[in-house]
Amino acid sequence: MSPSCLVFLLNSLIVAASVHASVASVAAPASSSSLAVNDGDSLTVIDILSKNVEFSVFLRVLQRSGLIPTLNIRKNFTLIAPVNSAFAYSNFEDDLSVIQDNIHQYIINNSFLSSDIEGLQIFETTKEPVNNVFTPITVEVLQNDYDDNENMFTIDGVEVVEPNLIAYSQDSVVHGINQILPVSASTCEFVDTLSSNYNGSFDIFSKLMAVDYCSADKSISGTTLLLPLDENIEINDIELNYLSSTHGSADRSLLVNRNIFHGYVGGQVAGVYKDFNEDDVEFQNLHDGNIVIIDGKKAKYSNVLSDDGIIHIVGEFDPSPVEFTPRKYLYGLNSDDFVDELDFRSLSYLIDDNSISQTLFLFEEEDDDNEGSSFGKRDLIVLDKKSIKAQSSTHKDQLLYHFIDGKIDVSSSGLYDSKVCRNKRIGNNCQKIKINHNANTGSLSLNNEVKVLNPSEKISIANTDIYHIDKEFFLPSSLESAVGSLSRCTTSMKYLNAFNLLDLANNKKGYTVFLPCFSSWSRLDLTLDYLKKNSTALLSILQNGIVNGLVYSDFDEDIITTNLNNELVEIKPVKSDDHENFNKLLVNGREINVERNRDIIFDKGVVQPINGVVIPPHVQITLTDLIKTASPDNNLFLELMDFTNLSHVLNSPNYSVILPSTMALTAANFTKFTPLSILETFLKLHIVPNHVSHGENDIDHDNLFDCGSKIPTLLDSVHLACRPFNDRSNYLQIVEGADLEVRILKTGCSTLSNQSCIFVIDKAILPDWLSPGKKLKFHLPLAAYGVGFVSGIIFIFLLLPCCLLAIVKSSKSQNVADDEQDPESGEDQRLLPSTSNDQHNYDSISNSTLRESIPQPIANHSGQNQIPIF
Ligand SMILES: *[C@@H]1O[C@H](CO)[C@@H](O)[C@H](O)[C@H]1NC(C)=O
Ligand SMILES: *[C@@H]1O[C@H](CO)[C@@H](O)[C@H](O)[C@H]1NC(C)=O
Ligand SMILES: *[C@@H]1O[C@H](CO)[C@@H](O)[C@H](O)[C@H]1NC(C)=O
Ligand SMILES: *[C@@H]1O[C@H](CO)[C@@H](O)[C@H](O)[C@H]1NC(C)=O
Ligand SMILES: *[C@@H]1O[C@H](CO)[C@@H](O)[C@H](O)[C@H]1NC(C)=O
Ligand SMILES: *[C@@H]1O[C@H](CO)[C@@H](O)[C@H](O)[C@H]1NC(C)=O
Ligand SMILES: *[C@@H]1O[C@H](CO)[C@@H](O)[C@H](O)[C@H]1NC(C)=O
Ligand SMILES: *[C@@H]1O[C@H](CO)[C@@H](O)[C@H](O)[C@H]1NC(C)=O
Repeated sequence: MSPSCLVFLLNSLIVAASVHASVASVAAPASSSSLAVNDGDSLTVIDILSKNVEFSVFLRVLQRSGLIPTLNIRKNFTLIAPVNSAFAYSNFEDDLSVIQDNIHQYIINNSFLSSDIEGLQIFETTKEPVNNVFTPITVEVLQNDYDDNENMFTIDGVEVVEPNLIAYSQDSVVHGINQILPVSASTCEFVDTLSSNYNGSFDIFSKLMAVDYCSADKSISGTTLLLPLDENIEINDIELNYLSSTHGSADRSLLVNRNIFHGYVGGQVAGVYKDFNEDDVEFQNLHDGNIVIIDGKKAKYSNVLSDDGIIHIVGEFDPSPVEFTPRKYLYGLNSDDFVDELDFRSLSYLIDDNSISQTLFLFEEEDDDNEGSSFGKRDLIVLDKKSIKAQSSTHKDQLLYHFIDGKIDVSSSGLYDSKVCRNKRIGNNCQKIKINHNANTGSLSLNNEVKVLNPSEKISIANTDIYHIDKEFFLPSSLESAVGSLSRCTTSMKYLNAFNLLDLANNKKGYTVFLPCFSSWSRLDLTLDYLKKNSTALLSILQNGIVNGLVYSDFDEDIITTNLNNELVEIKPVKSDDHENFNKLLVNGREINVERNRDIIFDKGVVQPINGVVIPPHVQITLTDLIKTASPDNNLFLELMDFTNLSHVLNSPNYSVILPSTMALTAANFTKFTPLSILETFLKLHIVPNHVSHGENDIDHDNLFDCGSKIPTLLDSVHLACRPFNDRSNYLQIVEGADLEVRILKTGCSTLSNQSCIFVIDKAILPDWLSPGKKLKFHLPLAAYGVGFVSGIIFIFLLLPCCLLAIVKSSKSQNVADDEQDPESGEDQRLLPSTSNDQHNYDSISNSTLRESIPQPIANHSGQNQIPIF
């Protein structure tokens, strides 16, 4: 008779008859319903169940499962039998099906009596969730004995209420329990659901474990797991991300495998077991197996059983077998492309050597669904926009430029050496990275281009600090594009461009460009007008500011080098009052203030924006030059100066000239026919001496540069008063005379002295304006007036057409706007260098000194110069 037929028969019987009656009739002959254990040698397990009404439900389940024939012929086993009251009648059917599904969990291939049990023991049931893996079960003695010295004990935490029913004929035992056995999930599933019971989570370890195990082809069934709580795992997110990635598989195995053991290691365990790494781990136990001790450390919760394994929850996790490196961190930061690129360019050592002290700026692409790597994109940008050849060395340098030697100080600005150090363009110096710290916002930027994200949250690994930046970071670009972003140097850039100085030849040392920025050029005013007409002089000035060699704003040594005019240049730093913000350099004895960390780094060197134009000594600009510039087509003033023997003033550094505009001069009717004394008075009113000495009465006097109120003129005892009009111009008036004002339109100084200047005014200051007392001195015979009048008439008639022409012209020239804002002011043509003049550039004096100093520091230049003096 086949087992299935038997099941069918049994089931039919159950349906037909009462439960007790039918069971009794199928089973062995019933003798007694007592629970006595010594009912004869022939008693079987099924007999015991049949005889006890309390097991009727369980017996029915066994019958349904068709296990009775197998149980009848089996020997030496333990059957765990829930008594009828174990079933919750509310969901009776559910319980039945749970038991039926897990019926083998109730059969242990080993017989034991309560007296055999000490402490906590682990047995294997015959439930086989995975091939050759049997579900474990705990049998645990309760400490408080009740009666007959019999041990009270639990099975899987369920109390045994009918212990030790011995089936002698089968050498087997039945233990009655008062609840059905709990059913656990497999270790992999179980780990996820365990957390609620243990006031903590196991996410980290289960995440790591899940990568290699818990999959269809690799399971950890039949093993013992040491499961650490998250709070005991000191691994940060980056490390965890790395360990979970494919790159981290070896390290992950190293860590995870140390916590997994073949077989069931629990309960009353003592001995050395090999973990999955084949390393020896010593197990001991306390309280007869209640507490498991692993390598001397108590598990927090011992002997937690899953369907296919044992779990000990531990409070220890030592990640130290894995040595984290910058490379591993980069993997953890998902910067695989960056690492690949480093490997490809043979720069692996940078991220594999933990002893290197360095800073790394890392750009992490934000959207993660892009296929192309950030480096792929970068290559495109480089190729398309910057037309840099795809040379391997460029790529390598591009990568190296993300590294700084040593650590950076995020609380201040500074210049740091990058790892691009064999840069032939800049004399094998390391290309610098400029870091600017904004004290107000605490933000950091690199080369004014790239922002450092959360500077205070650097990622430190070994000796490497990693900072994230907000966009890809490139090697410094050409002079043009590096300065291009700084709009306040546009005039200089325009001039450099006009003279083809933007593309500097490779000098193998690098360049320092002292670049006049801010309003340096416009402040030259009339002098600039001159320079625009004399391209030789302008070129010489520009080349004078381009020096071979690198001078950064933290420069602190003396060097002697040359400039593009092939002149020797000596540069040395000097202590200054504002040493923190400015580095004061003596360039050929001439002070230049270089603002700290305002360096503009470009591919062939560094630009130092300066506030002022440095005019080299061999560019000589005289007052005569400036007068000619101010009145290009009219030499009347110069002629009158000659005529009156006053020209010496124009060659002395001790005088300034107030020059009526061409139109004003013409309108004033002064000619060689004007009576000499009036002419002299007129001219002397327009000449301002810088040093007035009256022998003993050497009085302090105001000067025009400070817009004083009593400025001496060459005319004895006649003074001018100056009244500021706006930033760019002032009004003048005779102190000892009529209440009439003239306005200063333009100013320009000679190279002899910054106090020897031309001030172009809109109207001539007439001798008539002098107060009568002063005029008396110049009283003339009536005839002189007559001559003057006649010659005046003649003059007017002859020159009237010229005057009109001049009026038109000069009214145009008064419209000269700020040069900084009007770069296309038709002057460009004159800027084109004439090759015939080139030889002048080398006429330089060997011990030349840079002369014109920069008047004020850049920071506070705005409030200065009521008179724009260079
Ligand atoms: C019962 O089985 C256990 C383990 O399977 C074994 O150690 C024991 O000797 C067996 N007892 C008998 C009587 O066969
Ligand atoms: C139980 O023991 C029997 C005989 O000792 C053996 O054939 C059977 O495979 C064992 N079953 C389990 C589940 O251990
Ligand atoms: C969980 O925490 C509560 C309160 O802190 C405590 O009473 C309980 O015993 C803890 N459970 C476990 C399993 O540690
Ligand atoms: C232009 O400037 C140069 C250098 O200062 C000078 O030698 C030359 O004479 C100037 N040319 C004119 C036309 O003023
Ligand atoms: C200027 O000097 C010359 C020569 O010294 C002299 O002849 C002439 O009279 C002087 N002219 C005036 C206006 O002083
Ligand atoms: C300018 O003035 C200084 C001092 O007042 C004097 O020593 C010098 O000779 C003067 N220069 C000329 C060219 O007059
Ligand atoms: C100059 O001469 C013209 C004509 O003779 C006269 O109208 C004008 O007022 C004169 N100007 C001055 C400033 O004397
Ligand atoms: C002229 O230069 C001297 C030093 O070279 C300087 O002290 C002075 O302030 C300058 N004057 C003006 C008006 O710029």
